[in-house]
Amino acid sequence: MQPTNYKVETERYAKCIEGSKRIRWDIDKDVLRGREFDFSKKFLPDGISQVDRLDFLNDDERRFLSQIQGRTYASMFGFVERFIVAKILDITRDHWLGDQVALEALIRFCDEELKHQELFKQIEIMMANHMPAGYSFPWDPNEVAGAVLEKSTWAVMALIYEIELFTQEHYKKSIEPDENLSELYKDVFLYHWKEEAHHAVMDALEWPREDQKLTQAERDRAIDELIELVGSVDGILQAQSKSDAEYFLKISDRSFSEDEVVRIKDCLLKAYRWQYVFSGVEHPRFKALFSSMITEAQGQRVGQALASLM
Ligand SMILES: [Fe+2]
Ligand SMILES: [Fe+2]
Repeated sequence: MQPTNYKVETERYAKCIEGSKRIRWDIDKDVLRGREFDFSKKFLPDGISQVDRLDFLNDDERRFLSQIQGRTYASMFGFVERFIVAKILDITRDHWLGDQVALEALIRFCDEELKHQELFKQIEIMMANHMPAGYSFPWDPNEVAGAVLEKSTWAVMALIYEIELFTQEHYKKSIEPDENLSELYKDVFLYHWKEEAHHAVMDALEWPREDQKLTQAERDRAIDELIELVGSVDGILQAQSKSDAEYFLKISDRSFSEDEVVRIKDCLLKAYRWQYVFSGVEHPRFKALFSSMITEAQGQRVGQALASLM
């Protein structure tokens, strides 16, 4: 139910529709264009993969590690987009018999995320065809989405907003300026970024709208749920970073010292926590909106939970 006296900002949703129509792209015609990934180049830039911290690796090894991470990065998006679509569709309910502009903007949002999932599925097959066997990304998107969607809309919207903000941040700050990445890999995230920009605008309209429905006690419970969600995300990051590090070690044609193995595993876990958690929750737009809705004590609770991942 729409909170009483809530004014939907129709013009802002209308701008999102305008942007969505203007930049709409096609997977084959615009993004892939019959191309393959260039494996002589990195996929993820060092600013995201943090592989430059592993000074004992040679250039080939760093490039391979950036490609492994790049494969995980693409799979991770395809997988979180499953619960993003389900939740956004769920919140459209409030607009069904209300603001039809907001409804259209959110339906387009979902349509775009469905296309993104298809894009990430296709490029996973392309990457798998050129990389040695043994890589694993075992997460079932439906199973994880089912668990996420058990939490309150407020908590899930917090997670969605941080994801959609870091998507843009990573592209603008690290992927776009790097001249030495696989061109196709770079383009995938250029096109993805174009459609994500207006998603974050809508998240920032819908999350506070949801917030106005809650009592203090409900919001307090939602904070706990958000902390639980971050804990679950971290469980996935711990397992995936370990799996990716082990794949790298298995495929490498030389052995590493015990200390180096620890450093590789540690580098991946830190990088993944930064990629999927910290670069989102520390984004100025996330911080500003989040702190406008919560009490200081609630902020401290979240801060403590995040500090445990440092
Ligand atoms: Fe997306
Ligand atoms: Fe999105």
